[in-house]
Amino acid sequence: MANQTQIKKALECLVAGDLIGLPTETVYGLGADARNPAALTQVFLAKGRPFTHPLIVHLASTKQLCEWAREVPEEATLLAKAFWPGPLTLILKKQPWVSELLTGGQDTVGLRIPAHPVAQALLQAFGSGIAAPSANRFTHLSPTTAQAVHDELGSKVACILEGGRCEVGLESTILDLSSSQPTLLRPGLITTPQLEAILKKTIHPRHEQSPRVPGMAPVHYAPETQLFLISSQELHSFLDSLHPQDLPLAFLTRQRPSFEREGVHWILMSEQPQQYAHDLYLTLRSLDQQGFKKIIVEAVPLDPDWDAIHDRLQKAAIKHHPGDPHQP
Ligand code: TXA
Ligand code: MG
Repeated sequence: MANQTQIKKALECLVAGDLIGLPTETVYGLGADARNPAALTQVFLAKGRPFTHPLIVHLASTKQLCEWAREVPEEATLLAKAFWPGPLTLILKKQPWVSELLTGGQDTVGLRIPAHPVAQALLQAFGSGIAAPSANRFTHLSPTTAQAVHDELGSKVACILEGGRCEVGLESTILDLSSSQPTLLRPGLITTPQLEAILKKTIHPRHEQSPRVPGMAPVHYAPETQLFLISSQELHSFLDSLHPQDLPLAFLTRQRPSFEREGVHWILMSEQPQQYAHDLYLTLRSLDQQGFKKIIVEAVPLDPDWDAIHDRLQKAAIKHHPGDPHQP
């Protein structure tokens, strides 16, 4: 874990307008002073991210909410009490001064109070907002270790704070509270039923008009090796129909397969969604370095606890099966 000296150095980098690698409990962020337009511009350039794609502002405490949001609805206060610090981002109406670079030109701003002790220490010392998208190049997998940040963006960050492996492993839940209906923009560890239990009202799923829905690029949160999703029922027929040109391939399943096949490397993932989420990106990142032709993932249950994993796998996947003549 980063010590006080390293945190102080990161603070100096932020003040100087440089970018830093920052651990949070979800994934590592690419941090910049959220009030410094030049630093924010560097965030987009470093990631290769379109300027229309808004950034999340990280804060140390709920006391800072009103600095950034012009309205803090009752729902936000309830959710903040229940889940902050933690893996939840709220979209609220922005204060007029908040830079359009942060908001993708919209009237709203994404705010989150992270729980990771290194992020907390840095935010408290900084005293203002740190904009931090996930510290990966655009469309890539989010990094869940300091080494992965180095591999993604090494030369573009002034320093990377060590925070160990991210506990959650997937990006925060994003809830839009800027209109009359609370709308889920991105599922995460905190599930819709958990949010509804606090708000005592229905959370609406994303709809086409939702602003800047995360992961809108055709492939997002994706490894470089082509990833295909198949249902548990298709598993056997899929193995029977494999072509030699598909091999070697990696196969992520949640149950030990009943037979082996040469060239197929099995990875047994957890049956617990939280453990599965914790391991997913690191597993995919490591498979990317092993020269597989394809990565096949057994689809996960359609259940609120698996929603975030299901969402990320859908976005990472190529929409055709190997062996399909129409595959890209
Ligand atoms: O867990 C996380 O949220 C991580 C850590 C570092 O905090 N951050 C993260 O940031 O995943 P990023 O930029 O990779 O994803 C944030 C998503 C963006 O895809 C964007 O669409 C959405 O949040 N977002 C941010 N501000 C928004 C706004 N005002 N309206 C709608 N969507 C917004
Ligand atoms: Mg991201």
